[in-house]
Amino acid sequence: MSFRATLSQVLLAVATVSAKWIVPGARWRDTEGNFVNAHAGGVTVDHETGKFWWFGEYKIEGQEEGGGVSVYSSEDLATWEHHGMALEPIKGHPYISPEHIIQRPKVVYSRGASKYHMWWHADNSTYGWLLQGLAQSDNIIGPYSFVGATSPLGNWSQDFGLFADYKDGRSYAMYSNGDRREGRDVYLTSYNENITNLTEVVHRFDKYDLEAPTIIQTEQSYFAFMSHKTGYRPNNVVAFRADSLSGPWSQPFIVAPLNTRTFNSQSGFSLRINGTEKTTYLYLGDQACAHWDSNSLWESRYIWLPIEIDEDKKSLEVVWHDIYDLNVKTGEWKPIEGETYYGKDATTQGDAYKQEAVRTNDGIILTNIYGNASTVTFNNITGTGKPQWVSFYYQNTDDMGFGDQPGGSPNRFGGTWQLRRIASVVVNDDVENIETLYQRDTHKGIILSTPLLLNLEEGKNTITIGGLHNELDVKSADIDRIVVFPPEG
Ligand SMILES: *[C@@H]1O[C@H](CO)[C@@H](O)[C@H](O)[C@H]1NC(C)=O
Ligand SMILES: *[C@@H]1O[C@H](CO)[C@@H](O)[C@H](O)[C@H]1NC(C)=O
Ligand SMILES: *[C@@H]1O[C@H](CO)[C@@H](O)[C@H](O)[C@H]1NC(C)=O
Ligand SMILES: *[C@@H]1O[C@H](CO)[C@@H](O)[C@H](O)[C@H]1NC(C)=O
Ligand SMILES: *[C@@H]1O[C@H](CO)[C@@H](O)[C@H](O)[C@H]1NC(C)=O
Ligand SMILES: *[C@@H]1O[C@H](CO)[C@@H](O)[C@H](O)[C@H]1NC(C)=O
Ligand SMILES: *[C@@H]1O[C@H](CO)[C@@H](O)[C@H](O)[C@H]1NC(C)=O
Repeated sequence: MSFRATLSQVLLAVATVSAKWIVPGARWRDTEGNFVNAHAGGVTVDHETGKFWWFGEYKIEGQEEGGGVSVYSSEDLATWEHHGMALEPIKGHPYISPEHIIQRPKVVYSRGASKYHMWWHADNSTYGWLLQGLAQSDNIIGPYSFVGATSPLGNWSQDFGLFADYKDGRSYAMYSNGDRREGRDVYLTSYNENITNLTEVVHRFDKYDLEAPTIIQTEQSYFAFMSHKTGYRPNNVVAFRADSLSGPWSQPFIVAPLNTRTFNSQSGFSLRINGTEKTTYLYLGDQACAHWDSNSLWESRYIWLPIEIDEDKKSLEVVWHDIYDLNVKTGEWKPIEGETYYGKDATTQGDAYKQEAVRTNDGIILTNIYGNASTVTFNNITGTGKPQWVSFYYQNTDDMGFGDQPGGSPNRFGGTWQLRRIASVVVNDDVENIETLYQRDTHKGIILSTPLLLNLEEGKNTITIGGLHNELDVKSADIDRIVVFPPEG
């Protein structure tokens, strides 16, 4: 490792310790500089302190099952302190050994029992049990001790969600009852007072065959979010609306711009911030794995975005912002404005070129970017000498295995649904410090963005985008523009 790499890592760590902004799709680091590792989980607000506690699946490279549940805390939803494992797998245990599935954990406070209860989807590695697990702890931080794994009212339970109604104080489980023909429903079922068992089915979302459920509660409405079932590939998440949990529920509708596949994310949790000035609703989605397979779940990222709700139209939308600043006390948030640099002003090297493309700026996009010789360079970028977020807006038209191409059959990439577009990003020709930019599939004519934290020098900079320089010869996605944000703080 060169001195420069070490220095940039130090700068990165310093930059994230004081993070106050939420940057969807970035690599989030905790206060020690490690990646936040809490997938498909939930955030619990501590009833005493108002602090946020994030519980999620802990994943290491190549692993789908058995990682246990990690826990992080935050005052602001942006700065996260790691507290280790809240639920540790136990070798040889009948339900929580490293071979078992411990998915979608949620924690809720049981007033009656004066304990914190963790519930999750408990299963064996082939999803043959479809149970719900319960563990408890006297403290929110854990460790949680295993209580049992049961089938909810005799039924199956796959993707698990937990909803606490702020009006009546009751808690509810949401679960899809699996993929079998007799299943394919999502249940909304009330807990008993101590949140130790389920009491009755409040509503069944019948045969929609959806998963990853969560509910957002407003003054007037309940909105139930769920995703379609496409494995670890994202899809267009839908919501249903109702005045009461028992329904009647509306028809489902897609919550984000069409064909963005909910900005390449899956629902699973949502949060209501009851601020002093404003109530803000957040969609807490998971951006499934970077390579779209179960071996890289550990690399999946978090897409947390504000939800804009229109009670008159009985509708809502999850809205994209590259970066936003959220004040959890007042509930107010604002997008951070950056400076945009367009593809038309970039220079191309080697075989890279500018191609006509709809829905881009100026109708052109930068394409055929590969290796370290066929590259594109954005010039004259004003930097501050401090780490700055830069969003790369791209189009990836591969559509691997999303139903837009023959599933599994050989296409020009061999019919797999692996991520095929990965770029290298180099600032000021400093090839000692190459950043890797994952560019998930978008759709034809859909432009999405991924952010990187870059060290720009004070004054003018260049940013050069190439392919991934390795034997796979992976191309970059096509680049529309980049947006450079001011340094934080
Ligand atoms: C709730 O749990 C507490 C503590 O275990 C117990 O004393 C109480 O009876 C329980 N309440 C109900 C309704 O079961
Ligand atoms: C999981 O459980 C199902 C149902 O009991 C069983 O058929 C299957 O063999 C189990 N899978 C493993 C890996 O033990
Ligand atoms: C269990 O699920 C099946 C399929 O959705 C349903 O027909 C049955 O009523 C459910 N039973 C209970 C007790 O929820
Ligand atoms: C949970 O509730 C169901 C239905 O009310 C009941 O049949 C079952 O015995 C309860 N389980 C426990 C562990 O109390
Ligand atoms: C929202 O917060 C205010 C204090 O800011 C509190 O008085 C009120 O009870 C809260 N409402 C709900 C529904 O949590
Ligand atoms: C550019 O890529 C080639 C192989 O494609 C490699 O041999 C060379 O070292 C790379 N140069 C730099 C500066 O990374
Ligand atoms: C950078 O800006 C200067 C003027 O500020 C201009 O002369 C130069 O051509 C620009 N360079 C590129 C590559 O656009």
